Amino acid sequence: MASKFYLTTPLYYVNDIPHIGHAYTTIAADVLARYKKLPGQDVDVYFLTGTDEHGQKIWHAAQEKKEDPQKFVDGMAEGFKKTWEKLEISYDDFIRTTEDRHVKVVQQIFKKLLDQGDIYPGEYEGWYCVPCESFWSELQLKEGEGGKKLCPDCGRPTQLIKEATYFFKLSKYQDKLLKYIEENPRFILPVSRKNEVVQFIKQGLRDLSVTRTAFPWGIAVPGDPKHVIYVWFDALINYISALGYPEDKKFKECWPADVHLMGKEIVRFHAVTWPCMLMALDLPLPKVIFGHGWWTVEGKKMSKSKGNVVDPLALSKEFGSDEFGVDAVRYFLMREVPFGVDGDFSMPAFIKRYNSDLANDLGNLLNRTLTMVEKYFSKVVPERPEDLNGAKDKLIGATEAMETLIKQQMDIFGFSRVLDIIWEQLVKPANKYIEDAAPWKLSKEEKMSELERVMYILCEVLKTIAFYVSPFMPTTAEKMWQQLGLSGKLSLKTSIAGVKTAKGQPLFPRIQK
Ligand code: ME8
Ligand code: MG
Repeated sequence: MASKFYLTTPLYYVNDIPHIGHAYTTIAADVLARYKKLPGQDVDVYFLTGTDEHGQKIWHAAQEKKEDPQKFVDGMAEGFKKTWEKLEISYDDFIRTTEDRHVKVVQQIFKKLLDQGDIYPGEYEGWYCVPCESFWSELQLKEGEGGKKLCPDCGRPTQLIKEATYFFKLSKYQDKLLKYIEENPRFILPVSRKNEVVQFIKQGLRDLSVTRTAFPWGIAVPGDPKHVIYVWFDALINYISALGYPEDKKFKECWPADVHLMGKEIVRFHAVTWPCMLMALDLPLPKVIFGHGWWTVEGKKMSKSKGNVVDPLALSKEFGSDEFGVDAVRYFLMREVPFGVDGDFSMPAFIKRYNSDLANDLGNLLNRTLTMVEKYFSKVVPERPEDLNGAKDKLIGATEAMETLIKQQMDIFGFSRVLDIIWEQLVKPANKYIEDAAPWKLSKEEKMSELERVMYILCEVLKTIAFYVSPFMPTTAEKMWQQLGLSGKLSLKTSIAGVKTAKGQPLFPRIQK
């Protein structure tokens, strides 16, 4: 039986349209999902994304636009779906927190925890950060100019609130959670994030306010509808409501999640609040919580007020063809920085990567090779030379080594390293091989069997490259497959020998800027 692989992105707030930060997590999840779906891996992948549509921030956003909040979130959620479609995101389910299937489960869980005493009524007095939708105690705040009380996470002003609320007994699970984290070294990744979480828990967990009364936009507390459920308590539940918790087959098959991917700023909610909720529900904890780094734009935090927010779709349209623009964006984000580390976006950096890695290295390799197959062999790839079998040809050896190398990196979310390996061991050496073997000389000197050998090896390498870049650049991989003259689903088992190639337009025309 195939094993399952359940992976998720955060549910993005719909107060604004998606930018490259949201695209980053979603593309990373998509790369992982597509990789796990490649033939040769007996895995059933389930990839969930969606939108977080309740809470004070979204309530304000709708008020500002003078729109009915449901209508507002409907429109915004549509925008996320369209963006993901353009970016070739192959999610299996998209959940919105305003959907009935979610609301129902949140209320059911709230009631269950209330009945079992893990949720109890009380009064909250403390500080609240609306942009982060998070509660803070006086001691945790940062001091700003003129004694302003700032959010320790985002640095923006917080507000003092005092309201009747229900609390969730986070404190009760503190020791159990610490023990779990210590015993499961892969639970919170990368390790630096784990250390931050452990430090945070060791300062002592206080019970968490899980309802609000100051505004009406949220899931009503069953039996006490003045209260709406706190947006984080509501949203985290998506990871099981989408599977049809508690009864559906999907839930039983998929839970616990194999990985929750997210940015570093929300690791605490996923590695503290969520596991405590799951322990209260007597459910197993997710296997991995991965908090990646943050993108800045030319060194600055992206923000509407600075006007430096990068829209991934606009970026992909910047150069000629739309579809390759998308792959260029996917490639850049996955390649530029190791997953886990912060990255900086700038147009010069983007163009540099595009021109060197995509136009020069990859695009040229395909184009030159196919031009030569056309010229020397009337488009038909030569037969596989017999002595390649088991012979230690360097390039063929590199294609055979790929599977293990890539798997090792994928297991530790080394997306950038995977691309680096493909380029350093296949793409660049193949270009160098052309220079060294000089097929034009072989042709002039009529060394036909040597020429056949060289061209076969190049086509075999290109086939392998197409296969392994496909999770990152699905359209490019498809186009490479077609130009190589192959058909059907990408598979390393497909033979390239004797195939009739079909050279097309260059994949990545150079950007002149
Ligand atoms: O936090 N760099 O939603 P959100 C990298 N609704 N990643 C970034 C980024 C940046 N500059 N900006 C955003 C929420 N992200 C909650 C989540 S989950 C149950 C609820 C990505 O719209 C990154 O994944 O603020 C980050 O964690 C997420 O978007 C935050 O999205
Ligand atoms: Mg945020």
